[in-house]
Amino acid sequence: MNTQQLIKKLNWFYSLELNQVELYQTQSKTVNDIYLKNLLERVSKIEQGHVDNISDYIFKLGGKPTLLGEVAAPVTGVIAGRVSGWAGIINMLKSDIILEQKAIADYQDLVLKVSDKDLFNLLWSNLIDEDLHTAWFARKVEELAAMAGVKQ
Ligand SMILES: [Fe+2]
Ligand SMILES: [Fe+2]
Repeated sequence: MNTQQLIKKLNWFYSLELNQVELYQTQSKTVNDIYLKNLLERVSKIEQGHVDNISDYIFKLGGKPTLLGEVAAPVTGVIAGRVSGWAGIINMLKSDIILEQKAIADYQDLVLKVSDKDLFNLLWSNLIDEDLHTAWFARKVEELAAMAGVKQ
């Protein structure tokens, strides 16, 4: 992978992460549960850390962080109105999990292709954060489904 290809790839992550910052920020404002509200706020801050580390690296390569339009569309469609009740929260978290899993798969793909040690560590660190987010979301979905007596 040459530098231009790598910058392009990193801009994909930059866009995805930036969308996640906004997504979790918005979700945090749309839920009533205080724990979930704070958790989403915290996750949004972690995603902001990813935006920052990716954009720093793009600058380091001589590029410019650029928001790619094709990433924005599916994400923004997810946030529609106020989320309430267990069913609404389960649906919200399930779409969050899909997005996190997409990020994980893409990080896993890129981490195998990079030779630079700093980038390698950065990608691993972001990847693990996404996995932690996914694990919490999945646990919450299970918990809510069990409380509501529905099978997921
Ligand atoms: Fe992230
Ligand atoms: Fe995440």
